[in-house]
Amino acid sequence: MMKSEQLYEGKAKKVFATDDPALLIVDYKDDATAFNGLKKGTIAGKGIINNQMSNRLMQRLERAGIPTHFVEELSERETLVKRVEIIPLEVIVRNIAAGSFSKRYGVPEGKVFSAPTIEYSYKNDELADPLINTSHILALQLARADEMETIRRYALRVNEVLSAFWAECGVTLVDFKLEFGRLPDGTIILADEISPDTCRLWDSKTGEKLDKDRFRRDLGGVEDAYAEVMRRLCGHGGN
Ligand code: TMP
Ligand code: ASP
Repeated sequence: MMKSEQLYEGKAKKVFATDDPALLIVDYKDDATAFNGLKKGTIAGKGIINNQMSNRLMQRLERAGIPTHFVEELSERETLVKRVEIIPLEVIVRNIAAGSFSKRYGVPEGKVFSAPTIEYSYKNDELADPLINTSHILALQLARADEMETIRRYALRVNEVLSAFWAECGVTLVDFKLEFGRLPDGTIILADEISPDTCRLWDSKTGEKLDKDRFRRDLGGVEDAYAEVMRRLCGHGGN
């Protein structure tokens, strides 16, 4: 597969065209940002971990019936994916209060919900990714009602599959962010990445944070946390 021109460089990834118009190559960087790019840094080895972890989780989700953009891991940092039109939404599922939920509603971090919550943010850097509801999504024509039903169903199913999977690794899936895209025929598939950048992952026994919050909150041990959570995933034989 020929890597041709760079189409896009995001905060954590570069995206390249290939000689097949239906396929792209994603190249994961070690760069990290937080607070809409206000905080910048590097997490050594993160690109490798996020690439490999995301691919492994996407393959697991495919087996559970959720269509994803994953095609083939090409190298430590590069993956071949299906080209989609990204729906500009961050789809956030939460099992336990943390982060912006705790701040917005004045709920202590760690409060376990009786059922998962789902919310959406409008992916728009100038507006700093504001929270958005389904009727606003329809008004802005970001997605259709039937697409939002599919996205919601997939997101909650991803939560079931990944919560169970991480639990087997001794890790609690606190919350996570997904992005979806449309194939040329309109099919909705899971895109972007699933990694410690986009999930809150807590050690099930100690509650230790094993995700990007260590970077966001200057907790130290950032690289070690990424390596540890990758080790847990790999140590889990069942795929
Ligand atoms: P939040 O509590 O800050 O809203 O974050 C919820 C989840 O979404 C958390 O697992 C981190 C992830 N996330 C992203 O992947 N990208 C983002 O830009 C933000 C703000 C959060
Ligand atoms: N990656 C996002 C940014 O730079 C935010 C985050 O993950 O906290 O804004």
